[in-house]
Amino acid sequence: MSAVIIDGAKIAGQVKERVAQGVADLNKTKGVRACLAVILVGDDPASISYVSGKTKALAEAGMADRSIRLPATVSQEELLDRISVLNADDSVHGILVQLPLPEHIDSRKVVQAIHPKKDVDGFHPVNLGNLVIGSRSFLPCTPHGVLKLLRETGIRTDGARAVIVGRSNIVGKPLAILLARRDCNATVTICHTGTRDLPAVTREADILIAAAGRPGVITADMVKPGAAVIDVGVNRVPDASKKSGFRLTGDVDFEAVKEVASFITPVPKGVGPMTIAMLMHNTLEAACLSCGYGLF
Ligand code: GUN
Repeated sequence: MSAVIIDGAKIAGQVKERVAQGVADLNKTKGVRACLAVILVGDDPASISYVSGKTKALAEAGMADRSIRLPATVSQEELLDRISVLNADDSVHGILVQLPLPEHIDSRKVVQAIHPKKDVDGFHPVNLGNLVIGSRSFLPCTPHGVLKLLRETGIRTDGARAVIVGRSNIVGKPLAILLARRDCNATVTICHTGTRDLPAVTREADILIAAAGRPGVITADMVKPGAAVIDVGVNRVPDASKKSGFRLTGDVDFEAVKEVASFITPVPKGVGPMTIAMLMHNTLEAACLSCGYGLF
């Protein structure tokens, strides 16, 4: 039997509706309009597309948008100055610098310059540290979105074996920590380019998460029958039949794996929309915390 295809766009839509309601309540009760500043440096087409998805979602949620676009040649100093102005501005609740940054800029320095209370990406070491020890923090949006998809779909994590393919700071590492926390209670393995016999490890997974950024890295023979497969990959592959010249594909061989798995996320319209929805959630949370409004 073919897997249930998880509708990430629908679940994200429900999250965004609740956020929009929260934004309206906050505005009515406290006169505060939740506000995010997205900083985009340069003109990488994928980054432009991600940022336009974020700014569109801000408008839909009724939030203020203080986004800034800077040329690829901008100096690190100028970028850090821009962040410090936004840090000091009480009307801005969230700051996000779209990654990757041009090579002459030290991404770590930039991420650390964002005030942890405005770090709605959850990438600042203070937020990541709090995540590890189980204290309150902004959860990184993609891992948070994956957890939400699992919960809303009724996929049990308690006692499950979760295997994550990919060890990035943005997805693999924080997701592993979250799944292993007591509230999820999964037994977690992280695989990477140094993993020996990857298929043997992935076949152990009740929940298999592909976050390697390589198209087709998960094939049907690597999946245990009945597993839930979550595809975090967003890869652009050339496709002459498309006007844009490319199509999006995940890390999973979707057509073959859906015949083995019990649940699977598509690309697009799987994890991607959840990332944006959780960013809206975090921004509302930052705005509420800034004025002591008890939604969170
Ligand atoms: N680049 C790819 N994904 C992300 C993300 O979630 N946040 C930021 N800031 N940059 C990204």
